[in-house]
Amino acid sequence: MSGDFVPGLAGVVAAKSAIGWINGLEGILRYRGIGIEELAEHSSFEEVSYLLLMGRLPTRDELSAFDAQLKAYRAVPDGITAILQNLPKDGHPMVALQSAVAALGTFYQQMDVTDRDGNQAAALRLIASMPTIVAAFDRIRKGQTVLAPDSDLNHAANFLYMLTGERPDEKVTRLIDVCLVLHAEHGFNASTFTGRVVGSTMANPYSTIAGAVGSLSGPLHGGANERVLHMLRDVGSADAVAPFLETMISTKQKIMGLGHRVYRVKDPRATVLQTMAADLFSSHGSTPLYDIAHTLESEAAKRLGAKGIYPNVDFYSGLVYEKLGIEVDLYTPLFAISRVAGWTAHWLEQLEDNRIYRPTQHYVGSTDSSYVDIAQR
Ligand SMILES: CC(C)(COP(=O)(O)OP(=O)(O)OC[C@H]1O[C@@H](n2cnc3c(N)ncnc32)[C@H](O)[C@@H]1OP(=O)(O)O)[C@@H](O)C(=O)NCCC(=O)NCCS
Repeated sequence: MSGDFVPGLAGVVAAKSAIGWINGLEGILRYRGIGIEELAEHSSFEEVSYLLLMGRLPTRDELSAFDAQLKAYRAVPDGITAILQNLPKDGHPMVALQSAVAALGTFYQQMDVTDRDGNQAAALRLIASMPTIVAAFDRIRKGQTVLAPDSDLNHAANFLYMLTGERPDEKVTRLIDVCLVLHAEHGFNASTFTGRVVGSTMANPYSTIAGAVGSLSGPLHGGANERVLHMLRDVGSADAVAPFLETMISTKQKIMGLGHRVYRVKDPRATVLQTMAADLFSSHGSTPLYDIAHTLESEAAKRLGAKGIYPNVDFYSGLVYEKLGIEVDLYTPLFAISRVAGWTAHWLEQLEDNRIYRPTQHYVGSTDSSYVDIAQR
């Protein structure tokens, strides 16, 4: 065995990166040095994507050229829609998304990733086309007509339009836009690392991002947001929270939406989302789930706060999406639609100074066994 065995690679430094910075003890998250709270207040998903990919905020002209490029890449080939039409309608949208993203690589063949301009274009195409894929799959499974993107709408509004067939109002558009801003980047999380590992083999961009989508889908990562909502529904009332927590903790089960590998305090994105949720509920009417979530947060803090377990980004996002009428199994795809900005930024950064990832293992199996003929076993 060489080196220390660190389960889950916790604390292991695997690369240098200048994209997202996290201070887990103080609850700080910055994209390219700019605080997430400032970006949530002033920026848009398009601008944040530029910031992540290019390393700085765009000028007005740069942003409008970038936006025009994204809009030009929104439509997906008919073959992608046909693939989505042939998938089982009860399949999970994250699996459909992963399949379609990988399949994009057969339509836009880019097996050579040494061309910077080509890579940049692929990054934009991925950011632009993932909302189209998610919306198309949702409409197909509901027996509805797939809608073409509307270039009069911004990224967030266009996604909601392609999903529902209705142009959302400004408030709803802004809410989704801020959710996209908040989820766009988070350092070396599992899906970003997955993307960097796949990318480090010089694989094509579509296989790289498809790998990241698969990694995000699990319940310990992006898949937690839909499970939070199911959990809050199962708990049923604020009075039931304390006994629920006692059972979960005594049986050593993980409470969805709580805890984080890096944060030892409340995730700053959860704080922004909670404020947004409270604002939405005061203007559009509250939901019983909000009271349950609130109680769960404070009761969990009493029991798990000493371990540094507090709400993460997934704790409040589902409440916002539920209020906006978005299907529960689209919460993680919504996360992916945003995180693709961070994934592609990391992929481009990885290729700038690439070395294939190849850690080692602590081998615990036999080193001296002999083959036994099947008849003698
Ligand atoms: C995010 C997560 C995967 C981080 O895992 P990790 O860094 O490997 O943390 P560990 O599993 O080592 O947990 C450390 C301790 O906190 C406890 N813990 C961590 N998350 C917990 C949770 N959500 N509920 C209850 N206890 C939790 C663990 O049981 C463990 O306790 P122990 O030391 O007594 O054994 C984990 O917190 C989790 O599963 N959370 C729920 C899923 C979720 O919301 N994921 C989205 C993340 S953004």
